[in-house]
Amino acid sequence: MNLTKLLQSQGFGTRRECRDLILSGRVEIAGEAMADADADINPEGLRFSVGGQDWQYREKACVMLHKPAGHECSQRPRHHPSVLSLLPIQLRNRGLQTVGRLDEDTTGLLLLTDDGQFLHRYTSPKKNIAKVYRATVRHPLTEEQLNALRSGVVLHDDPEPVAAQSAIARDAHTLELTLTGGKYHQVKRMVAAAGNRVEALHRERMGEFVLPAELKPGEWCYVEPDNAA
Ligand code: URA
Repeated sequence: MNLTKLLQSQGFGTRRECRDLILSGRVEIAGEAMADADADINPEGLRFSVGGQDWQYREKACVMLHKPAGHECSQRPRHHPSVLSLLPIQLRNRGLQTVGRLDEDTTGLLLLTDDGQFLHRYTSPKKNIAKVYRATVRHPLTEEQLNALRSGVVLHDDPEPVAAQSAIARDAHTLELTLTGGKYHQVKRMVAAAGNRVEALHRERMGEFVLPAELKPGEWCYVEPDNAA
């Protein structure tokens, strides 16, 4: 692959900007400056550095972000900064999109990708991707509430009851809820319909991905989706 195109595909700017980066001698491969903007490079497994920062070539990028509160999952946020502002410019330039959405005040695991197939696989209702939430609730949880969540509650925009895959009380005010759907404000509305109220919401897992304890709010890491899943 042409080196200029390669850098462009990795989010380093326009063709012109990538060319200028190379000609300035700031792009290195295997420790050597590559000043030929048209050099033919095999991208597979390629590691390179730009301005002293190391990168790995990725045909598609998929990242896991520990979403902090006070950020919107929107390209054009209205009241709070976008979650995209937490990622480096190179990833933003690649046009990463959030895999589903979390509310502005919800924290936890959020995936972002420029891989259309992965995005579809993870957001299609047919795929039944399980999402595990930890909700802190205002009133002590009751067996009736848990049973209502398990057997299904009616939300006002849908005549069919919506059921959780599982609803477990971790303690009197902490609910672990596993859902496969992705309706707007689904956890908050289901908990309200069951007679309680969500005070804080955190997503711990989505499909094969679990938020690692060492990934702090606002931090992100690359993930490699299991394409066979
Ligand atoms: N359900 C909600 O109510 N809010 C979220 O952010 C995610 C799921």
